Order: sequence, then structure tokens, then C-alpha cells
Amino acid sequence: MTKRVAIFISGGGSNMVALARAMQAPDFGAKPVLVLANNAHAGGLAKAAAMGIHTAVVDHRPFKGDREAFEKALLAALAPHDIDIICLAGFMRVLTPVFIDRWQGRMLNIHPSLLPKYKGLHTHKRAIDAGDSHGGCSVHEVTSELDGGPVLLQARVPIEAGETPETLAAKVLIEEHRIYPEALRRFVNT
Ligand code: GAR
Repeated sequence: MTKRVAIFISGGGSNMVALARAMQAPDFGAKPVLVLANNAHAGGLAKAAAMGIHTAVVDHRPFKGDREAFEKALLAALAPHDIDIICLAGFMRVLTPVFIDRWQGRMLNIHPSLLPKYKGLHTHKRAIDAGDSHGGCSVHEVTSELDGGPVLLQARVPIEAGETPETLAAKVLIEEHRIYPEALRRFVNT
């Protein structure tokens, strides 16, 4: 059975596009049925619509820190779409254990570091400041530990002389677009 995938975004959605394009392969085993953003200005929304994917916006701001109410609204947006798997793709809201437990084993994330290093934000700056030889990215299952679930796939990128967070982010993003679709493909086929 083809799995029905929701992709959560907050910004430009380049990982979402990479996932959606990969799922166009007829033997992929999954298809994107919903792209959901927490921000009506997320650039990825128009890209999803152009690819013929349903979009939804659940703005977190009116919930003013009431994460449970925000997550109830997320669940309500998901409900009509019969979703099997959620892919977080640059979704910059922290989800509570209530939401995560409900989706555990069915929710993936891409994080721009070589986990378990550099959970959280500013990953590229932290890797450069630490003098690391490599940065990278990780696709992992989402558990209630932030950026702490089992890693499915990683890619390493060398940190070169004069590297800045911006240059490293650009190089890592190319790898993100490669490993996230591959990790999802393996995930739906195991
Ligand atoms: C990506 O680099 C992703 O790894 C990162 O946000 C960017 C989203 O780009 N995610 C996180 O930092 C999650 N903590 P995109 O919107 O172009 O896919």
C-alpha cells in the first residue's frame, strides 16, 4: 500500500520539494498528500501547490505558548488526509510528547548536524567554532528527546579553511536533499 505522507515546513521548503520529487517515482511506496506550515509566509507553500499537493497553514502565534492547543489544531488539519507518515522538513516548532507519542515510529526529521552532535540551533556555527573536520546532516526518527531519536541516515561534508556557517549550510543542504528522500524510501520499504 502506498503510504500517505504529510510534510511539515516553516520556510523555503527545499527539503519538502526534494521529498515530493522523489515520491513521484512510481515504485517509491509513498506519496505526498499534504504540506503543512506553521507560517502563512512559508515559501514552500507555493512550491507545494505548484506540485499539486494540498497545503494547510496552522499558525502557531494565536496559540501564544499553548502548545497542546496548537497541536490539536495540527491534528485537526491532518485528520481529513488519512496520513501514515509525517516528515518534518525544516519545521521550526518543538512538538510536545503528546503529539510525538501519537506519531512515534511514523515521524521523521532532518537535522543539519552529525547527530548526536549539535542538537538544537546554530549547528553549522557550532561545528566550525569547535574546529570539527566535518559538518553534515542526519535523518532520524522523532522521539520525545529533541533531535534525539534513532538516526536512519547521515551525510558528512568537509569543513574547509575559511568556511562560514552560510557556506557550510549550502553544502550540507545539497546532502540533505539526497539523504532525506533515500531515508524515507528505505523507511517505507522496511
Ligand atoms: C534545513 O537545513 C533543515 O535541516 C533545517 O532547516 C532547513 C530547512 O530548509 N532544519 C532544522 O534546523 C530543524 N531543527 P528547507 O526549508 O529549505 O528545507
